[in-house]
Amino acid sequence: MDRLRIVGGKPLIGEVEISGAKNAALPILFASILSSEKSVIRNIPLLADINTTLKVLDSLGLKTLFKLENHTIEIDGSTLNSHEAPYELVRTMRASVLVLGPLLARRKIARVSLPGGCAIGARPVNFHLEALEKMGAVFNIEAGYIDGAAPNGLKGSKIEFPFPSVGATENILMASVLAEGNTRIENAACEPEIVDLAIALRSMGAKISGEGTPIIEVEGVKALHGMNHSVAPDRIEAATYLCAGLITKGKVTVTGINENFMKSPLSLLKESGALISSTANSITAEYVKPLLPLRITTEPFPGFPTDMQAQFMALLTQANGESVISETIFENRFMHVPELTRLGAKIDIKGNEATVKGPVSLSGAIVMATDLRASASLIIAGLIAKGETIIRRIYHLDRGYEHIEQKLIKLGAEIYREHEK
Ligand code: UD1
Repeated sequence: MDRLRIVGGKPLIGEVEISGAKNAALPILFASILSSEKSVIRNIPLLADINTTLKVLDSLGLKTLFKLENHTIEIDGSTLNSHEAPYELVRTMRASVLVLGPLLARRKIARVSLPGGCAIGARPVNFHLEALEKMGAVFNIEAGYIDGAAPNGLKGSKIEFPFPSVGATENILMASVLAEGNTRIENAACEPEIVDLAIALRSMGAKISGEGTPIIEVEGVKALHGMNHSVAPDRIEAATYLCAGLITKGKVTVTGINENFMKSPLSLLKESGALISSTANSITAEYVKPLLPLRITTEPFPGFPTDMQAQFMALLTQANGESVISETIFENRFMHVPELTRLGAKIDIKGNEATVKGPVSLSGAIVMATDLRASASLIIAGLIAKGETIIRRIYHLDRGYEHIEQKLIKLGAEIYREHEK
């Protein structure tokens, strides 16, 4: 198992190229199931979750080719010959449940291991199943598997989600493009990754309108051709590097992304006193004066993303005063707090609210990564902690950040990946 060793105290200065978004790439790769033709998907980030997705597609019989050096994946949809996403793969990546919509749409049958809980909460899939049932699917849940069938094919329907779930919106969008008739999704998630999925599906001939708003309308078509798409940039990765730069009192420019993807986190960084400037293709955050505390509430897009909560919390340990962070999306997403506390952070949790007292002087320690974004917050804190911070269990990090230590080294960080027995 690998670990990261960070020697804190080096200011981060420079430019970093943002990779394709993991959370856009995963549903888009699964959307290739919808066509019997060849799909070409570019700007794929090099991440463990992408490899898991390819294993799921391979297990369904699809032929996949990952051209690592050009970040491109080719998928041959003609060889689809299975409808099962097995436990060993779903266990390592919950997003595998996104095969459900495409498989039911194309093969009228799907068998997917029930994802179960994860470190950040229970994360049920009831919205996905209820909506697919409305479209004509029937499910049987037994022995840890969801067995789904749509013997008469999926029918376009009016779906109203109780909450704008990202995954459920994606699953239903993928199911509806090949359903018979029209589908209207109400209270749809509006995240940029949903918009990217809709663009990818449209490149296959799907008829979709309203993506990026709470109402998405789809006119089902009989068949889709292969996809040709370049994945949108990763707004969570970008925000992570901006926070990393600011905590070190540095100046970091993220390239390949524009501010429309991240208005809420950028306005909060401005409110805290950072100097933010942007071009059509880059965003710069510069430390110019001591940071002010913030009040943050995680919300569905366009609100502040839960996936940036941990990184902002690390940054706010250095703000002048008390910040309050409310987590409203996942019930157990403060797992990074005890680890940040080991580095010297002063954080109190009451229910879903964390109060962060700053500024505190952090000092290096051995800490444990508990989930993807928690790992990123530990790196951010480690960058200014006195002495050495060792972060263990970084396999979480490799699921979602491409070459993170190399990108940080380029910005001036002292960070080493080490093999731990
Ligand atoms: C996606 C992202 C994840 C992000 C999250 C919220 C991917 C691969 N993952 O996860 O990084 O943190 O959006 O922005 O894109 N819920 C239900 N029933 C359901 C579905 C969801 O109760 O059937 C609840 C969840 O438990 C959670 C909330 O709805 O409390 C939001 O979850 P959702 O938007 O579905 O998150 P994911 O799609 O799993």
